[in-house]
Order: sequence, then C-alpha cells, then structure tokens
Amino acid sequence: MCAVAVASSMSEGVERFLASPKQLLINGKWTGAANGNTFAVYDPATGNEIAQVADGGPTDVDAAVAAARAAFDAGPWRTMTTSERGKLIWKLADLLEAHLDEFAELETLDNGKPFAVAQAADVPLAIDNLRYYAGWATKVLGSTIPISVPFAPGAEWHAYTRREAVGVAAQIIPWNFPLLMAAWKLGPALAAGCTIVLKPAEQTPLSALRLGELICEAGFPDGVINIVTGFGETAGAPLASHPQVDKVAFTGSTEVGKLIVKAATGNLKKVTLELGGKSPNIIFQDADLASAVPGAASAIFFNQGQCCCAGSRLFIEKKIFDEVVGGMVDSANSIKVGPGKDPDSQMGPLVSQEQFDRVTSLIESGLADGAEAVCGGKRVGDQGYFVSPTVLVNTKPEMKVVREEIFGPVVTASPFEDIEEIAGRANDTNYGLAAGIWTRDISKAHRLANRLRAGTVWINCYNIFDASLPFGGYKESGWGREMGAEALNNYLETKAVCVQL
Ligand code: NAI
Ligand code: MG
Repeated sequence: MCAVAVASSMSEGVERFLASPKQLLINGKWTGAANGNTFAVYDPATGNEIAQVADGGPTDVDAAVAAARAAFDAGPWRTMTTSERGKLIWKLADLLEAHLDEFAELETLDNGKPFAVAQAADVPLAIDNLRYYAGWATKVLGSTIPISVPFAPGAEWHAYTRREAVGVAAQIIPWNFPLLMAAWKLGPALAAGCTIVLKPAEQTPLSALRLGELICEAGFPDGVINIVTGFGETAGAPLASHPQVDKVAFTGSTEVGKLIVKAATGNLKKVTLELGGKSPNIIFQDADLASAVPGAASAIFFNQGQCCCAGSRLFIEKKIFDEVVGGMVDSANSIKVGPGKDPDSQMGPLVSQEQFDRVTSLIESGLADGAEAVCGGKRVGDQGYFVSPTVLVNTKPEMKVVREEIFGPVVTASPFEDIEEIAGRANDTNYGLAAGIWTRDISKAHRLANRLRAGTVWINCYNIFDASLPFGGYKESGWGREMGAEALNNYLETKAVCVQL
C-alpha cells in the first residue's frame, strides 16, 4: 500500500476545482444545465454546503445521449485501433495516479470517508481497475466455429463470431464509493468500445466531475464519455428509458433497480444491476479468532457500513458466541469516529441526512422489536451525520433489522448450532451478494461455500476486491457481474458470421 499522507487542510488542486463551475460534460464540452439550475452538495461531516453542481434534466440527457450516439455511430472511437483505445484508458489511469491525493481529498469532502481510506483503497482500486481494462481492449476475441449444416451435404463453410460493442451505455452510480464505482463502470465499457453517459449520485458528484477534466486531458474523442450530474428521477430515469441508449448499468438500491428494469422495457435495452445485500458472515468455533473477530468488525464497519456487501448478519457458533460478541464490542468501542479529514478518524459520517435518518430509524425499529444494542446505537456529536458502530443481539429472523439492508455501521449477531442449520439461515434472505466463512477446517469451508447463494464468498477474509475477480449478486442483489472478464460481457454483443465457401 502507498504511504499514508495526511490532508488536514485543503490542497491547491481541490481549492481550484471547488472554485470552478461544476457543469455537465457533453460532447467534450462543459456546459450548464439547460434549465440553468444547480443543486447543492454537502460535507457530511458538518452538513455545510461545499459546492453547487449543474442540475441535469431530460433535455441534458437527450443532448448527452445524442453525443454518445454520434460518437459511437460515426466518431473516431469506432475506427480507432483497440491498441489506441487501450492506451487512452491507461493514460486516464496514469492521470488519476498523478492526482491520487487530490481525489482522496475530494472523496473525503464529498462522501465523508476517512482520507487514509480513500487514499489507500478507493483511488488505488480505481486506478488498478482502469489499467486492468486497458489490457482487455486488445483481447476481446471471437472464435472460429466448425459447423456441420445437415441439410446442405457437401457444402463448405467458414463460420466465426465477432464480439462487438453493445453501443451507447448509460451508467448510473451511487455515492458509497463515488470514484471507484465510476471506474468499475467506465473500464469495461471503454475496453469493449462503447460510448457512455455517466450519471453520478446527487450526493457525491465531485470526483466524477474532476475525473471528467482528466478524461478531456487524456484525449478521449468528444462524446465518448459524457457526464450528467443530477437527481435520480430527473436525470437517471430519462437515461434508463431513453430509446437511443442500448444498455443501462446501475448500482444502487434494489428498489430503484426494479424501476430501471421497467424503464428499460421500452426499447428492451440490456440491463445489468448491482444492488443491495444482507450478507451473512459465519464464524465457526475452530476459526482463528485473532483474525476472525477484527475481520468481522471490519466486514460491517468499513466505509461506515455503507457497502452493498457489508457482513451485516453475523452468525457465531454457539460455544464461542459470548467471546466473539465481546470482541466485536471491544472492536466497535475502539473505533475512532470523526471527520474524515482528521488523521485519527477511523470511521466518518454517513453520507447524508437522509441516510442518517434511515439508519437511526432502523436501529430504533430493532430495539422496539426487542433486539438489544450491546454497543453503539447512537448519534455521535451534534453536527454531521455520525452514528456509533452498533452490535445488536437477541434478534429474531423476521425482524426488519435482520431482513432489510441498513447500509450503516449496524450488525446483528446470533448464535448457530451446526453447518446444516447455518446454510439454511444464511440463505434465508432475498439478497445474495456476498458471504464470509471463518474456520480452520478447509473442507467445511468449501462445503459451505458451495451451498451459499451469493455472488462472492470470502473464506478467512472479507471485503477483498480485485479488478480481475467478478463481483455481483444472486437473487435480488442484481443481474450480471462487475469486474473481471465477465464485466466485459455486459458491454458486448456476439455476432455470428457464416460464409459459404
Ligand atoms: P438509489 O438507488 O436511489 O440511488 C443510486 C443511484 O440511482 C443515484 O445515482 C440516484 O440518483 C439514481 N436513481 C435514483 N432513482 C432513480 C430512478 N428512478 N431512475 C434512475 N436512477 C435513479 O439509492 P439511495 O436512495 O441513495 O440509497 C437508498 C438505499 O439504497 C441505501 O440505504 C442502500 O440500502 C441502498 N444503496 C445500495 C448501494 C449499493 O452499492 N448497492 C449504493 C447506494 C445505496
Ligand atoms: Mg433513492
């Protein structure tokens, strides 16, 4: 990992960026919203406004889609060699790396997360992801297929497949990892040869806009990447239903994921969804508790619990239940909660007032239903959106806190007897994004991994991400996979070409 520097006061780069107008990137040019409106973004550590951003709406979406359409159908992007496309993606990664601390600072300001976390995780992972897909640009292959054609005896054939870009991709992303989610989306779409309209979350548009400046600097042809800031209903929805968009990729709530599916029916655009989770994290009594307990704490408390794959349902084998819960409480109580720019902070605020209200009301519902908070459960301080790391026990499977994604630093802990019981309970959820297993018994770990209905299973680790490892959900956690070779498929069509010789 890179050395951890500290951003205590604002850097020159961020100051310059904040002072500049924050507009839409359409066809290689920065422009205000057609209606002239802007909206405020806030520092979640204080609740103070930090910037005004163009409030893109349907007219801007039309212009951005038209630019992406033209760039796809007729622009230089189409005729560029795959090597040239790969080099542009790599160049963007290099530019991002040259501004690593500035982006980490922006993420802290906009999302609230600790600077050291953004600096060690969000930005380096985004860079790595772009480089990984830069490599894929030259490796999108079809195949030659020996065909038999029984009704044409004696004929000779040459048949092959081509993998072609799906076209214009709309990419709608959330606020929990603003830059990283942009990179996860842009990388495979660019490698495949698509053109893009990216819509950042209204809570956290800043790093995407700064990335837009680097996109221009890298030299992507006009219209290849367009960025429309704005709200879900006014900017996101018209993108998802746009007849000139070929594919929509969405990360966010399961609720909006279902709306995206409906919106996409008009022209039957391709859809991929990365949605909510309620991931089980399972600790057996033969686990190495010295790593399992801090691992389980980090599984839920990392990023203030605002992770779709957060290990939010902790299952502990009965014999070690009290010991592990005690360890979780110690871990939770030792976490320093404070503003992300403070170098001592290990946990920042939730992203917004709305998320703060949502998380605290879910905690209250749990307590009203009879759960007990053995630590946390409260607001921290009197400004900003800080919530203390919370461990709930005495929960029942039907409680809201066990069934619904909380998206905050709140874990439910409950005991289990054996592997048969735990496989059923772990799968007793509408979601299926991730799961964790902690044991020294490698056969048991693999046996259980096979039975869990989840897109990722971490064994003796949690929250391990790599650009080459596919990530996505079973059940209501989504459609398709991000990252790895699989994410390319989200942006490709297969064409079969058949030649009679
Ligand atoms: P959301 O799903 O409303 O927002 C995510 C993105 O979708 C944003 O860019 C938003 O502007 C856009 N959007 C909203 N409504 C839309 C619509 N009708 N059509 C098209 N785009 C639309 O999530 P929100 O409201 O910020 O958070 C609510 C809950 O969603 C959280 O508490 C959490 O449980 C879950 N969530 C899950 C995430 C994940 O990584 N899977 C990320 C963010 C939130
Ligand atoms: Mg919403």
